[in-house]
Amino acid sequence: MSKLLKFEGHNYLRQRLILATLSGKVVRIDKIRSDDHDPGIRDHEANFLRLLEKVTNGSTIEINYTGTSVLYKPGAIQGGRIEHDCGTDRSISYYLEPMIALAPFSKKPFMLILRGITTDHIDNSVDIIRTVLLPQLKRFGIEEHVELKITKRGAPPLGGGEIVFNCCSVRQLKPVQYIDEGRIKRIRGIAYCTRVSPQTANRMVESARSLLNRYIPDVYIYTDVYKGAESGKSPGFALSLVAESTTGALISGEKAAEAGMTAEDVGLLASKILLREVSRGGCVDTTSQWLNLLLMVLCPEDVSKIRIGQLTPFTIQYLRDLKAFFGVSYKIKVDEESNTTLMTCVGIGYINHNKKTS
Ligand SMILES: *[C@@H]1O[C@H](CO)[C@@H](O)[C@H](O)[C@H]1NC(C)=O
Ligand SMILES: *[C@@H]1O[C@H](CO)[C@@H](O)[C@H](O)[C@H]1NC(C)=O
Ligand SMILES: *[C@@H]1O[C@H](CO)[C@@H](O)[C@H](O)[C@H]1NC(C)=O
Repeated sequence: MSKLLKFEGHNYLRQRLILATLSGKVVRIDKIRSDDHDPGIRDHEANFLRLLEKVTNGSTIEINYTGTSVLYKPGAIQGGRIEHDCGTDRSISYYLEPMIALAPFSKKPFMLILRGITTDHIDNSVDIIRTVLLPQLKRFGIEEHVELKITKRGAPPLGGGEIVFNCCSVRQLKPVQYIDEGRIKRIRGIAYCTRVSPQTANRMVESARSLLNRYIPDVYIYTDVYKGAESGKSPGFALSLVAESTTGALISGEKAAEAGMTAEDVGLLASKILLREVSRGGCVDTTSQWLNLLLMVLCPEDVSKIRIGQLTPFTIQYLRDLKAFFGVSYKIKVDEESNTTLMTCVGIGYINHNKKTS
């Protein structure tokens, strides 16, 4: 029987369940909104637990009557073909992002079909997961057949979108040394719209270019206009942007339309968010910090090192949780000159025993 780890509160729930699954440790999470007038886990959290049950084999989940306490005994990461309805409380990304950490260590290759909202203004969009988060896996040696297809768009509130995520599994990762951020050489983006005038996409592109071209000439933004059966149930539009550096750093910024926003508002806001993120520096952007820091811990027993911008409050808690589950501490060094942060650790030599050596 492995040691029981205890946490409190609804924050970091998904991350802790994922770390429990990877480490094989049992977790108990108490006081989930226990002082709230509506205590306990929310529907989307319960739905996330159901997805976790589907992608694993032999997990047990006990939720007490008030929903304020969850006991999770993880099973093996099983993978295979899994379909899941993400509902409309949170976007597909809320479910998909944590799954990216499990997929490489599963028994069977992941083929995950998720339905719901593809872009909202709370979580990263599926576009940023595709263009920024998934490419991070390559550096760690996870490169064969990693693919995310957005088969249908689904804007809030009704969704109706669908994605297909494929990922191979590996036996072991490769350590990473990635500290040269290079300089930004180009910006790419996707202006998507669904169930609004197709001109909306062009208007977002124009307003974004008017700002971004002051900094860099090489800006290309694709317009992605969804029609008919692929356009989901609600109108929506958004712009996601990626700045690419000469050393392969991918820095993201995006904005989805909220009530009352024009295409121009969205174009300019997404661009400002991107430029702010670029100014933070580092080889790994804020969105990708957690995934890199996790994979570095799971690497062979060797030194891994990356340069990030600044640690976010989320990442600081994530580092504490990584220590709790894997006993690994990071060496954190601020580079005064560039105001970036160097993160160094020695991996635990994680082996996916489900996967035979080839
Ligand atoms: C799940 O695990 C059990 C016990 O280890 C095993 O007998 C069963 O075959 C597994 N199921 C699948 C689908 O692999
Ligand atoms: C649920 O769990 C919490 C924390 O362990 C406990 O205080 C509460 O009494 C439990 N509620 C029920 C109905 O079991
Ligand atoms: C370093 O970055 C932080 C966070 O973005 C910022 O608050 C601070 O002013 C920066 N310091 C310098 C010297 O640029």
